[in-house]
Amino acid sequence: MRKKIIAGNWKMNSDIDFGVDFLQKITQIQPPSGVEVILGVPFISIYELSKVSDFVSIAAQNCHQKESGAFTGEISVNMLKSAGASHVILGHSERRQYFNEFDELILEKMSIALKAGLKVIYCCGEPLDQREAETHEAFVKSQLSDSILKLSEDQMKQVVIAYEPIWAIGTGKTASSSQAQDMHAFIRHLVKEEFGQSVGEELTILYGGSVKPANSEELFAQPDVDGGLVGGASLKTESFQQIIQSMKPV
Ligand code: 13P
Repeated sequence: MRKKIIAGNWKMNSDIDFGVDFLQKITQIQPPSGVEVILGVPFISIYELSKVSDFVSIAAQNCHQKESGAFTGEISVNMLKSAGASHVILGHSERRQYFNEFDELILEKMSIALKAGLKVIYCCGEPLDQREAETHEAFVKSQLSDSILKLSEDQMKQVVIAYEPIWAIGTGKTASSSQAQDMHAFIRHLVKEEFGQSVGEELTILYGGSVKPANSEELFAQPDVDGGLVGGASLKTESFQQIIQSMKPV
């Protein structure tokens, strides 16, 4: 059965004390059965936060593509593993936009992360002009073709995809549930074509972009939407709790 996930992405927000307090509050209520909760936190918080909760997994928000070496200021996958991270978010549009990350590099990062035993949350999604020109499917297809569709089948089984249309990130403008469903079905179809029916069926695809308590239930009710990658609303215990509770138990 396909895994359901609610993941938060704290981006460059929060410090260690905030994180510990947040996790202590959030773990007072169990998530619906079968729903995994992951928090993408700043590097410096990973070690401390990975010890707080039994059911919240901790994700890093980036890693370096090399195992080790003279790369001052960078963080390797083995450092993340040893700090307690179980996942790493890769390919986020903010890293693509502000740090010039491109699919070939993201593929290198995915490969080394998977080799180290980290699971990958791979982000894709189109900018507004591609959506308006109705070329959004072709755009996302080319992102996937240059990255995850080049993985082996075994690697692919350790990947979660997050579809995050750039025009919906931090804008308050969410994709409608049918826009999300259509793109998720399209992504699943591409994965099935490359890796076969069962890998595609088992793939968890999250929606991200202004997810909040007011829209999460409808988004998550779509057959190909298996949860969310939540930015701003994951920084408030109450709204993140509500989003988690809006998932149907499996
Ligand atoms: P918002 O939920 O703040 O729009 O951010 C989405 C996101 O970028 C999650 O990775």
